[in-house]
Amino acid sequence: MAYDLLKGKKGIIFGALDENSIAWKTAESVHAEGGTFVLSNAPIAMRMGQIKDLAAKTGSQIVPADATSEDDLNALIAKSMEILGGKLDFVLHSIGMSVNVRKGRHYTDEKYDFTAKGWDVSALSFHKVMQSLYKADAMNEWGSIVALTYMAAQRVFPDYNDMADNKAYLESVARSFGYFFGKEKKVRVNTISQSPTPTTAGQGVKGFDGFISYAEKMSPLGNATAQDCADYTVSLFSDLTRKVTMQNLFHDGGFSSTGVSQEVIDYFSK
Ligand code: NAI
Repeated sequence: MAYDLLKGKKGIIFGALDENSIAWKTAESVHAEGGTFVLSNAPIAMRMGQIKDLAAKTGSQIVPADATSEDDLNALIAKSMEILGGKLDFVLHSIGMSVNVRKGRHYTDEKYDFTAKGWDVSALSFHKVMQSLYKADAMNEWGSIVALTYMAAQRVFPDYNDMADNKAYLESVARSFGYFFGKEKKVRVNTISQSPTPTTAGQGVKGFDGFISYAEKMSPLGNATAQDCADYTVSLFSDLTRKVTMQNLFHDGGFSSTGVSQEVIDYFSK
């Protein structure tokens, strides 16, 4: 159901790789709510992904950018304002990748140049995106910037590896930059802490299938899907949440507040 919540709003959506991506669902929902946007992804992902289909479906243009490159980001932001005809109202950072996870390196056996690369892509890139937006004065007042995170930033999930540390950094950047963006430009900055979701990035985590089933049983409302996340993001981009900023917002069906569920007790009482 659409409510025109984003009518007239313009933005950038990073990270739509394929139709499972959280950013893909978000792009579809933002489009349905009347928002217009530029789609961006790493140049390497553009060749593999089906982002062109999404662009056609949503009437969007694609501007490649490696989110670790300040030059790419500056060019993307300038080009986006040109394409969209003015400053931006929303930005979604939906980017993550751990080289240690990809190469099967255990948390106690990290290769630190892998760690540094994963941190740059998954965490520092959020600061880089915001610094580029800030310096270009590219955000309209009451704009909204959202990044995606996971609860491993607060609690240990052993196979989440160095992404846990990356997410802790990302959440801290949202608070710190949110202060300056709020004070100087009346722009809000939040992170959404999403349930495990079957996407390319999600399924890269070891033991993901067992883990997603466990989370489903532990969450009173069940896991939040990628589409649920898209809906929540639309609300954060809309004018209905103008005073929500510098928050890490759990979007997980209640998982983060549940000590144990009856289903899990029953399983261990067998
Ligand atoms: P995905 O694999 O569909 O999206 C990750 C995106 O990051 C891809 O589009 C990829 O091309 C992009 N990317 C990687 N390196 C990049 C670079 N250097 N520059 C620009 N883009 C780059 O997976 P998903 O799950 O949609 O991930 C989106 C976000 O959601 C990530 O931040 C992820 O950590 C987060 N998240 C995912 C959860 C899950 O279980 N899938 C749970 C909680 C958070």
